[in-house]
Amino acid sequence: MAATALGDLGFLASHRGTNLQAVLDACKTGRLRARPAVVIGNNRNAEVLARARRAGVPAYHVSTATHPDPEALDRTIRDTLIRHGVGLVVLAGYQKKLGPETLAYYARRVINIHPALLPHFGGLGMYGMRVHETVLASRATETGVTIHLVDGDYDRGAILAQCRVPVLPGDSPETLAARVLAREHGFLVETLERILAGELPLPGPFSVAPA
Ligand code: GRF
Repeated sequence: MAATALGDLGFLASHRGTNLQAVLDACKTGRLRARPAVVIGNNRNAEVLARARRAGVPAYHVSTATHPDPEALDRTIRDTLIRHGVGLVVLAGYQKKLGPETLAYYARRVINIHPALLPHFGGLGMYGMRVHETVLASRATETGVTIHLVDGDYDRGAILAQCRVPVLPGDSPETLAARVLAREHGFLVETLERILAGELPLPGPFSVAPA
């Protein structure tokens, strides 16, 4: 296997995959100097897997359906990432927790994008429209996007980057979700650019020793 670099990107995602698409497009145009190495989805028919395949990126369905044993599932995800030479793992709408083996191997090399300003409006159950409904119910005047390191807990790892998005009078959860999502796409690409350029250093060493 060629030496693993941070720019060798592995993605985990569950459904739609518009954030993945933004990164694929940025790699294709050369704006982002990275290699989308592999996409793992936990739903066999998810659009995100079709997006990956259309772009010629290897895509796998790996879930409790394919691997009912949690340890086997965890090892398969880790080994798939390793086999494709992944250096940085991007959770782009992945609604499952990563297992301990994957988190240990890729410690401080897994990032997640969340559609709100953590540490608020995050945690178990805070995904999809629920995030935006809760933001509106709180009467916050702004929300945003957070990109953070992933540890064992939902939405809890160190925050790497945030940007703000206004909440406008008359917003519904749907209009707010659309405004945030539109910002997510550019912000994910920008943040990856900064990470890969060393402007946003990820903490700590990364061992690429065989698992
Ligand atoms: C995004 O809002 C992301 O922040 C969250 O899940 C959603 C995924 O959207 N974690 P998509 O699948 O990339 O379109």
